[in-house]
Amino acid sequence: ARLVVLVSGSGSNLQALIDACADPAYGAEVVAVGADRDGIEGLARGERAGAATFVHRVRDFDERADWDAALTASVASYEPDLVVSAGFLKLVGADFLAAFADRYVNTHNSLLPSFVGIHGPRDALAYGVKLAGATLFFVDDGVDTGPIIAQVAVPVLDDDTEDTLLERIKEAERRQLVDALGSMVRRGWTIDGRKVTIG
Ligand code: GRF
Repeated sequence: ARLVVLVSGSGSNLQALIDACADPAYGAEVVAVGADRDGIEGLARGERAGAATFVHRVRDFDERADWDAALTASVASYEPDLVVSAGFLKLVGADFLAAFADRYVNTHNSLLPSFVGIHGPRDALAYGVKLAGATLFFVDDGVDTGPIIAQVAVPVLDDDTEDTLLERIKEAERRQLVDALGSMVRRGWTIDGRKVTIG
């Protein structure tokens, strides 16, 4: 299966996928890595792995829709079976969602539907929940609202800081991403309303 991965930052989730794809039995290949900014480690990881890379910055376009069209065209040119948002900090538009309906997934560092947005671990800590975690889901036109593919929980410990909790979540998140995507590419998936079934 062909994966295109979108990143905005360090790309540790991308790296976990690249490492998993090194085993042919995993059944997938990261063919391209796209970003909304230059100079990030995520792009460097893609280059080192021999994947194609591309960057589209919103500010280089007059209209947001033009950025969305460029992103859609670049991703489509790699003919992906799955598009993975892994720390990609942009909401895509209607064109992109239409082009990759039912095969655009995002990993988020909270147990959805709690703590949407970019500060999942911080918000979980502030709320005082005792379980935090990560969610893999299909992206729809809301913010972190699409059908859930997989979730993993980790404990919140009494002496956690945002950093220690974030690291615990991200470790579980990477494992979940690799496991769930591997199952999806090898066994297929169906989406019936909000219910996602692998295999
Ligand atoms: C992940 O924890 C993801 O849930 C959040 O951003 C983080 C990306 O980390 N949206 P990385 O770039 O994969 O290291």
